[in-house]
Order: sequence, then C-alpha cells, then structure tokens
Amino acid sequence: MSDEVPLTASGAEPEERVIEAALRPKNLDDFVGQPRVRKQLSLVLEASKIRERVADHVLLSGPPGLGKTTLAMIIAAEMNAPLRISSGPAIQHAGDLAAILSSLSEGEVLFLDEIHRMSRPAEEMLYMAMEDFRVDIVVGKGAGATAIPLDLPPFTLVGATTRAGLLPGPLRDRFGFTGHLEFYSVPELELVLRRSAMLMDLKVNSAGFYEVASRSRGTPRIANRLLRRVRDWALVHGIEQIDARAASAALDMYEVDAKGLDRLDRAVLHALCTKFGGGPVGLSTLAIAVGEETETVETVAEPFLVREGLLGRTPRGRIATPQAWEHLGLTMPKDAILSGQTYVSFDDDQAEAED
Ligand SMILES: Nc1ncnc2c1ncn2[C@@H]1O[C@H](COP(=O)(O)OP(=O)(O)OP(=O)(O)O)[C@@H](O)[C@H]1O
Ligand SMILES: [Mg+2]
Repeated sequence: MSDEVPLTASGAEPEERVIEAALRPKNLDDFVGQPRVRKQLSLVLEASKIRERVADHVLLSGPPGLGKTTLAMIIAAEMNAPLRISSGPAIQHAGDLAAILSSLSEGEVLFLDEIHRMSRPAEEMLYMAMEDFRVDIVVGKGAGATAIPLDLPPFTLVGATTRAGLLPGPLRDRFGFTGHLEFYSVPELELVLRRSAMLMDLKVNSAGFYEVASRSRGTPRIANRLLRRVRDWALVHGIEQIDARAASAALDMYEVDAKGLDRLDRAVLHALCTKFGGGPVGLSTLAIAVGEETETVETVAEPFLVREGLLGRTPRGRIATPQAWEHLGLTMPKDAILSGQTYVSFDDDQAEAED
C-alpha cells in the first residue's frame, strides 16, 4: 500500500484521508498540542452547554494537516451534536447552501471546509444564516422573483480555511471564535506519534519517535505518514521494535532527511550553494538549475526552506543562509553575500517583480 502524495506534502489525497480517519483523536483531551486553541475552544463549548444554547460559530485557520477537520469533528462530538460536512467548492450556488441549511436539525454542527472558496452569493446567504438563523429563499426569476424568508433551527457553523486572509471581513466577523493552528513542536509530534503507534499496534522506542517527529515538518499529517512508511520498512526488514537507527534508515531510504527536507528541497539548496555561491540568484534561474518549474520551486520547496531559516528572500534574489551550508555539510565561502550582513525579507509582490 503506497500513498499517492509525496511523503513531505502537507496536503492529502482522498485515499489518504480515509486512512487518516482511523487516527483522528475523538475528543479534546486526546487532541495533542495547540494548547491555546484547545483551552479557548473548550471554554466556548463549556459555556454554551451551561447556557443551554448552541455554541458560537467557530473558524479554524492554518496550514494543511494541522488538525482543522479533526477539531471540527471533535466540536460536534463534545457537543453531542450531529455533524454535517460540506465544503466551499461544493457550494457554487446560493441554492446549494439553502438546501443544506434548511435541512439542518436543531443544534447540528455544520462543517464547511475550504470556506474561502465559496461563491459570493452563497457567502451572502451565509451571513444572514449565521447572524439571524434565517435565509431568504428566492423563488422565480427576473421581475417576478420573490424572496421567501425561512427560519432555520439554531446551528453551529465550523469553518475551516488554509487562507484566512482570503475571507471577506464581514464573514470573518460573524464567527464568535477564531482558532489559528500553529505548526507543532517536536515533543508535540512525538505525542501524536505515540498515540498513532498505539492504535497501529507498533513498537517504537523514544529515540525512534524523536527521529520520526523531527523529520515531520511540524505537521501531524506528515508525522503519521512517515510512521506508516517506517512501519513498512520495519516489517520488510523483520524489525520488531523501531529505534532511531531503524527510523532514520527507513526515512533516508525515502529521501526525507534529518530536518525533514526532501529531494527537491535539497536540490534547490544544493544548487544555490554550489552553482551560485549561495546567491543572491533569481528564482527562475534557480528553478532552471534544478530542472523544475518556477512555480514548483516557489510554492512547494521554498516555504518550508524559508520557515526553517535555510533560504532567504532578498530584493536581489534567493540566498542560502549559514544554516543551509551547514545542513548540506558544505563550507560557506568567506565572500558569500551573507557573511557579516543581515538580509531583509520582503513581500511576494516585490519577489515577483524581481524575477
Ligand atoms: N493535534 C493532533 N493530535 C493528533 N493527531 C492529529 C492532530 N492534528 C492532526 N492530527 C492528525 O493529522 C491528520 C490530518 O489532520 P486534519 O485532517 O484534521 O488536518 P486539516 O487541518 O484538516 O488539513 P487540511 O487543511 O488538508 O484539510 C489526521 O489523521 C489527524 O489524526
Ligand atoms: Mg481538513
């Protein structure tokens, strides 16, 4: 059994989402990490139980694979409420949303994934539904069209988005609580992995957990995926208990290195250091050097390299940081642009203009 997506991708294909369901924590106590969001959310839910009202609408934002869908399911479970799942791309007409809203039962949790991708008319219908539990159903067309108001049972909307910045202000304002999920620390990922290993009936020692966690790019989805690959490797090699050596041998084989960089990430850094003396070099030149599309380098490799402090974006192009040279085991030349200098970060528009 192999996953379609690259090991280090933060998103998941539908097949993988099915596998993931088995590892989803079912209540807030089992949800690892995100202490602030967990605490705030638990307060929101607790208060609504005391008030005997439906919980306020909740918006969950953050990069893929950090637990937005998991939390949405936990909210429904904690509220003992049924859960309805839909998504922005599935709601292209206001009528699609009206059909969902009008069939909700009292207290139901409606989870709208990728809520930033909903159509504008649907979005406007959602404003009223969220605020007044009411929608206007438009019947007929043109001059003869009439709006028939329809009362809805109180419900809780849980919206999820990887792009909170794309949500229009009026929509964002209608959520009573917004939880922003952060990348996980290595110890947090170790806890995620311990729980997953138990559910998968897998023997792993502490050093083994650490090894997998530290290659997981701060993302539980990636951690669980790497664990499945390590499991396969151990199975084939007849290893009963996974230790650091087994985990690193397995993940080296899959070309995921000690910091979680994959083949492309390393190729980009390597080219930057060895072909361009550490930069600065334009993005498109760098992309040609590794034989990839500019967009692939920019959207797939770069964000993680920047986050890890291995690559810098300057007005004059991309540069390798001292950590990058060190990570590749290369000696940074004395005249590399970065030595003794600080580099400025700048926004994407400028970056594009630069290239
Ligand atoms: N805090 C956590 N504790 C334990 N497991 C977690 C946690 N967060 C995420 N996971 C696991 O990671 C996987 C991905 O989580 P989830 O589907 O909730 O991410 P997501 O934020 O909805 O991602 P996407 O943006 O791609 O929809 C799931 O299998 C889930 O079990
Ligand atoms: Mg999700």
